[in-house]
Amino acid sequence: MSGQPGLDYRFDTRVAVQYDALRGHPAEVSAEIGRSIAAQMGKGARVLELGVGTGRIALPVAAAGCEVYGVDLSAHMLAALSGRLREQGIEGVHLAQGDITALPFREGVFDGAMAVHVLHLVADWAGVLAQVSRLVRPGGTLVLGRDWVDPESFAGMVRNFFRKTVVEVGTEMLPPGATAAAPPSGGAAIVQTLLSLGARPAGEGELVGAEWRSELTPRQVLDGIRSRDDAESWVLPDEVLTETMRRLDAFAEAQWPDLDAPQPVTRRFLLGVFRFGG
Ligand SMILES: C[S@@+](CC[C@H](N)C(=O)[O-])C[C@H]1O[C@@H](n2cnc3c(N)ncnc32)[C@H](O)[C@@H]1O
Repeated sequence: MSGQPGLDYRFDTRVAVQYDALRGHPAEVSAEIGRSIAAQMGKGARVLELGVGTGRIALPVAAAGCEVYGVDLSAHMLAALSGRLREQGIEGVHLAQGDITALPFREGVFDGAMAVHVLHLVADWAGVLAQVSRLVRPGGTLVLGRDWVDPESFAGMVRNFFRKTVVEVGTEMLPPGATAAAPPSGGAAIVQTLLSLGARPAGEGELVGAEWRSELTPRQVLDGIRSRDDAESWVLPDEVLTETMRRLDAFAEAQWPDLDAPQPVTRRFLLGVFRFGG
């Protein structure tokens, strides 16, 4: 399996079943995300999705009028998606099981491509982007989508503390002489790679594809991380997660006296839009 060296992640049955419950968007938000991506791709566009998963993004993009070709390594994630396509009688989503580092398509066959929460899982993400730059026709579009949580909200504060603590704990636990695995590729490196491949950002910064508010309790957010129902904790060794949670629980208890009190969180789905030279 490809991925970040040293990290162990499996999009297995448990994750496939949980994925939509945990990461799904409310129905109206999902439809809005579909429309905003389809508007960038163009009416009737043929769109490649890298790491289609359970179709959280593919389904609304197809509903908004695109033909989506989804590739994913995980048979479990694809089975969950095929079931939904059958049950709901959805057309316009075509699936292939495979590795996005070796995409089996002809050059220039797509009008666009999209990737959401997947490139950071692939060690050779730059090679994936190089392939995408050939598979998408000149003038075509790449959308890099991501979920955003207001960093000023309690959930954003938990997330920031979690990320910082994982790095601290992971470094403390390294055997003598070992070096930490490279951190997942950041946005700036991706933009640089895309520029070198002849892609240009469409507009200034990311577009807001959708914005909504939800209510969550600190305990829900903490338990999501602890139970590995959160994408970032799937990959952590047990001992790193246990020690990180010990520090994160102490942080949360000091910050919020009632961990069961719901608090509002502003969330967004952001689109980084690039056009390939043409
Ligand atoms: C975090 S999920 C995101 C799924 C979907 N893009 C979404 O946002 O809902 C990542 C997906 O990428 C897939 N994946 C990871 N590495 C892959 C690879 N090298 N080739 C194909 N799929 C891969 C996983 O199986 C999983 O379904």
